[in-house]
Order: sequence, then C-alpha cells, then structure tokens
Amino acid sequence: MVKINENYLKLKAGYLFPEISKRVNTYTQANKNSDVIKLGIGDVTEPLPKACINAMSKALNEMGTTKGFKGYGPEQGYGWLREKISENDFISRGCQITPEEIFVSDGSKCDSSNILDILGNDNLIAVTDPVYPVYVDSNVMTGRTGETLQNGTYKGLLYLAINEDNNFLPEIPQNKVDIVYLCFPNNPTGATITKHELKKWVDYANDNKSLILFDAAYEAFIQDKDIPHSIYEIDGAKNCAIEFRSFSKNAGFTGVRCAYTVIPKGLSGQNSKGDKVDLWPLWNRRQCTKFNGVSYVVQRGAEAVYSFQGKKEVNSLIDFYMENAKIMKSKLSTAGFIVYGGDNAPYVWVKTPSGKTSWDFFDYLLEKANVVGTPGSGFGLAGEGYFRLSAFNSRLNVINAMERIINI
Ligand code: MLT
Repeated sequence: MVKINENYLKLKAGYLFPEISKRVNTYTQANKNSDVIKLGIGDVTEPLPKACINAMSKALNEMGTTKGFKGYGPEQGYGWLREKISENDFISRGCQITPEEIFVSDGSKCDSSNILDILGNDNLIAVTDPVYPVYVDSNVMTGRTGETLQNGTYKGLLYLAINEDNNFLPEIPQNKVDIVYLCFPNNPTGATITKHELKKWVDYANDNKSLILFDAAYEAFIQDKDIPHSIYEIDGAKNCAIEFRSFSKNAGFTGVRCAYTVIPKGLSGQNSKGDKVDLWPLWNRRQCTKFNGVSYVVQRGAEAVYSFQGKKEVNSLIDFYMENAKIMKSKLSTAGFIVYGGDNAPYVWVKTPSGKTSWDFFDYLLEKANVVGTPGSGFGLAGEGYFRLSAFNSRLNVINAMERIINI
C-alpha cells in the first residue's frame, strides 16, 4: 500500500480557519434564526477597485482576439508588472529592489510555505508565538519539526513569545537560529516594528548568517510614517532577507489571487560542503518547474493597483478598513476591554475578559452576540487569553458587532 507523509499526522486536527467555519456552521444549523457577523478570518469584503476591474476586463477582451491572445506567461511574472512593483513599492522608498528580484505568484500563503523547497531540512527555525499558523504547519508538513508536545507546540521549533511585556516584539534569540519568520504589521496581534528594532534583527541575521522570512502582507495598512513598509528599508537586509507581499488585503485580491516574493540577487545560503549558494537561481528553478505563473488577466489587474486611479481607490479601501479598526478599538476600550493592534494593521487583538480561555470566549461571543472572531490560542500557546477581531467587514456590520459585544 502507498506510504503516506506521516508528518501530516503530527498536525493539530484542522487548519484554524476551516475549524472556525465548521464551528460556526454547526451553530447556525442549530440556530436557524441567528444572524452571525464574521470578524474571524481576515478576508476582505469590499468590491475590487474599479481600476483593477477595468484593467482585467480589457485584458480578458484582448485574450478573446487572435492578436491579443496569451498562452503561458513568464513563470516569474510579466516584466511590466515587476517593473511597476519595483518602482512603486521599493525604489520610491529608497530600496534597491530590481524587477528581476521580484517573483509574481498566486499568494503569500503559498510562497511562504513553498520557500521551504529551496531550504535545507536541518535548519533551526524560529517563529513568533502567536504566529500566522502557515509558517508552523508548513514546517511540520515537510518534516522540519519533531513530534507535537502536549501543550500543542512542536519539538525542534524555537518559539519567540510576543506579549504585552515585550510590546509584542520578539526578543532576539541568545543563540543562532538559521531561519526566522517575522510578520509586520503583525498577524495576529496587529503590532508593528520600528526601523530601529528591525535593524537589530537584520544585524543579528547578518552576524549569524541567518535568513529572515519577512511577511509584509499588511504593509499597506501602516499609518505611522516612521514604520518601515519593507525590510529592505533597513541597511543590510538584502543580504539576509526574503520578503513576501500580497495584493490580497490592499486591493482586495483574496479571491483574485496575486502576490509576489522578493529574492535579492546575491542572497545566499550554503551547501553541505559549506560553499556559498545563491538563493535566487534556486527559487527561479523551483518556480520554472512547479509554477506556470499568474494569469495574464490577473496580472493586468495587479498592474492597475499602481495606476493613479488604482492608488486612489486602494487608499480609500485601506482608509475604510482602518476606520473600522478605529471604531472597534475605541468601542471595545471604552467598554473596558484591553485592546492592542488596530492602529497600523487591520487586526485588533483583545484580551479575553475575566480569565476566559480564547475558545471559551469564542463560544461565548458566538452564542451571546452572534459575533465570530479568532481565538488567540489558534495562533499559538502564547495567544491563549487573547482574541483576534478582523476589521474586514462592512461599516454596519462592524458597528453592530461592537454594539452586540458591549451589550452582552
Ligand atoms: C488571517 O485571517 O489570518 C488571514 O486571512 C489568513 C491569510 O491571509 O491566509
């Protein structure tokens, strides 16, 4: 009989968000009159920017003509999109990222898992706790961790707790780790990192020849001018960091699918003989073999994000969700909740009241307020006692959800 990948058996029952959906479905089946407001998964709710729609419609029409038809595109993404990304997301911020260093893809979730394909199995890996579960699960699936411990953590991973005591900033490990995942603005806590603090990580990585996997999927939500949008704003980062970016949350592409990953030329690892090996050709090779690129139509949609109209529309989407976050934060704080995040990120990180566990609070809110959030413990052990609320919803739903929570 075929042998399975037993690493999958180490995984906790289900991925967090489908698990939440399952519980919500069970509840709504049993309570047919319930009117549930979902502030759980960070999925956008507002329509796509018109600039993107127009660009995609035009591209689709082109595809319907003999002259405009396109088959397979470049595995790395079309040059015109990579140029716009380089110019707008990096050069304009003083980061020397060339179009060639940008690989367009169908999502940061996939890229942040797939990157493991080009990295050795015996690296010591550090993640924050709480953390976006994909980083942990993808390491478990590929056999980079040991067994599950009783507390739900995995042997072999180094967990860096982020909590009120350290302002939700992971402390730099005393010893050398090979790979560290950093996500800022942070999912799930909504915390941010200053240039000064990020520089410490870049210096640590360069001193220890470590690799930082930097997830900047939420950079567009940064309001404070001093907070870096890219790790490449930090000197030395091109020698130690890969960055993941996404069109999902800024332009509402969660259902359209487009993202990109930056692999700087000259960023290297080593082989078992200790020789330096560049990562760019490995990732390029991986993409050419396993990926056929993002559709032409979608890439034209992503390109439109950088047009004058696109920028205007994306900014108003960001403003809309950040106003939601502001309302959530202010209503909950006034009602006595201890609330973090929400200032530069679309997530509000709430301390569960009266010592309730995260899942108890989940059940409590679902039953008493018909509001869905994400239990902090779903993001890791140190997330216990917290609850994440997403600002991605209509204004009315956000206001109603807050009123319901406050009036339980
Ligand atoms: C989340 O809710 O944490 C995000 O939606 C997950 C994701 O972007 O994959």
